[in-house]
Amino acid sequence: MDKIIIFDTTLRDGEQCPGASMNNNEKLEMARQLASLGVDVIEAGFPVSSPGDFEGVKSVAKNVKGPAICGLARSIAKDIDAAYNAVKYSKRPRIHVFLATSKIHMKYKLKKAEDEILKLAVSAVKYARKKCDDVEFSPEDASRTERGFLHKVVESVIAAGARTVNIPDTVGYSTPYEFGAIIKGIKENVPDINKCVISVHCHNDLGLGVANSLAAVLNGARQVECTMNGLGERAGNASLEEIVMAIKTRNDVFKGLYTNVNTREIYKTSRLVSKLTGMVVQPNKAIVGANAFAHESGIHQDGILKERITYEIMKPQDVGVGGTQLVLGKHSGRHAFQERLKSLGYTLDGDQLETAFDRFKELADKKKSIYDGDLEAIVDEEISRIPEEFRLLHFRITSGDDIKPAANIKLGCHNKVLEATSSGDGPVDACYKAIDKITGMGGKLLDYQIRSVTSGKDAIGEVSVKIGTKGRVVSGRGSSTDIIEASIKAYINAVNKLAYKTR
Ligand code: KIV
Ligand code: ZN
Repeated sequence: MDKIIIFDTTLRDGEQCPGASMNNNEKLEMARQLASLGVDVIEAGFPVSSPGDFEGVKSVAKNVKGPAICGLARSIAKDIDAAYNAVKYSKRPRIHVFLATSKIHMKYKLKKAEDEILKLAVSAVKYARKKCDDVEFSPEDASRTERGFLHKVVESVIAAGARTVNIPDTVGYSTPYEFGAIIKGIKENVPDINKCVISVHCHNDLGLGVANSLAAVLNGARQVECTMNGLGERAGNASLEEIVMAIKTRNDVFKGLYTNVNTREIYKTSRLVSKLTGMVVQPNKAIVGANAFAHESGIHQDGILKERITYEIMKPQDVGVGGTQLVLGKHSGRHAFQERLKSLGYTLDGDQLETAFDRFKELADKKKSIYDGDLEAIVDEEISRIPEEFRLLHFRITSGDDIKPAANIKLGCHNKVLEATSSGDGPVDACYKAIDKITGMGGKLLDYQIRSVTSGKDAIGEVSVKIGTKGRVVSGRGSSTDIIEASIKAYINAVNKLAYKTR
């Protein structure tokens, strides 16, 4: 078995994502979670870039045990000094030195010729090796570097003492076939390549970061640099969770390869990154998106209920997600509806099930997403049903800041339609007064509470009321996407209990 070293750069390249910066306490919390996740190397920052970054890397090096702690440095003595002074507190310090080698970068950014670049790279690695055994070198923009020169640089930095040579696709320009061939070319043409670990670092500008990294692995790379949630400069870096799960799930393709990542910590780590950076994970993001294990269509739901592997290639629990989600919507059938109720602890059948299912379908036409809270609200009404002396048939309210609120209510009662209109202190008060006129049962409203049982603008509101009359108190509940309707239903529910109990 061949191990793929997971080099996490969420705290360095990931943090370079615009708007994703973290303070040092947050970085430490993140690094601790990365250690629980089981990554092999944490690139904790770029120590020379600011005193804050230096302190951040130092604190990770001092406090986080397990993974090697790495600091980034340009091929400049002061950068290497800063990197070493920050990571030296770790049991396993690493210095990561980089220098661009592509014609574009050498000509426009560095304004240096090939032989100067080569010299700088070699002396930087030698300088770093004097301080630290574990030195990694990256020829920045390697995928756009002329191949012969790239091989020469790799050969020279290995001779200078680099233990890992990292091949970055800095601008996410490469394609899987091409990038795989770059790694193969290095393996075949660089003498002593077996003295170092070949690493890759792929950006996602064309959405190929993960594909390119995996192509490199198939061609001999044994370290992958990646970030949680694919965070990073511009379109980000190759995503850690996708790489790890691809290697695990497709072990027939990645034969004999494994990572040390505890995949059950993936979801927790993803949530933490999202919380600390404020970068929301897109719902359809592979592995960690809210929809990654959610099934909406009736055909898929039926398949999943019969046998999970029909539509799922990974177990949600393997990445730390609670379970498969059958998202109930207007396309869902009774099978999925009943199963969900069961998982919520409700066993409904016969007429109760039919009525609840009809209510659910009505709601699904009004709302985009149906949450467990919605179902509970529906079922609670069905289960706690008492005979419906009075039923809401219709309501209309007029309200505003320049008119007295009024309500017109029609209730059904034993095949009769009863109607009343009333004004009130607010639309709910007007409705309740109109209902009192109809039923003649109104008591004193002792309590009125409203809460949202679900989230979003189309959330269900649930109203609970308590009314008291002649020494008796009854409660009522009603729910709807319309809070006035929910208020009316709650009141009628309570009134029906009164009517039932006084019979
Ligand atoms: O993308 C890149 O080339 C980098 C290097 C510093 C490795 O982040
Ligand atoms: Zn990068």
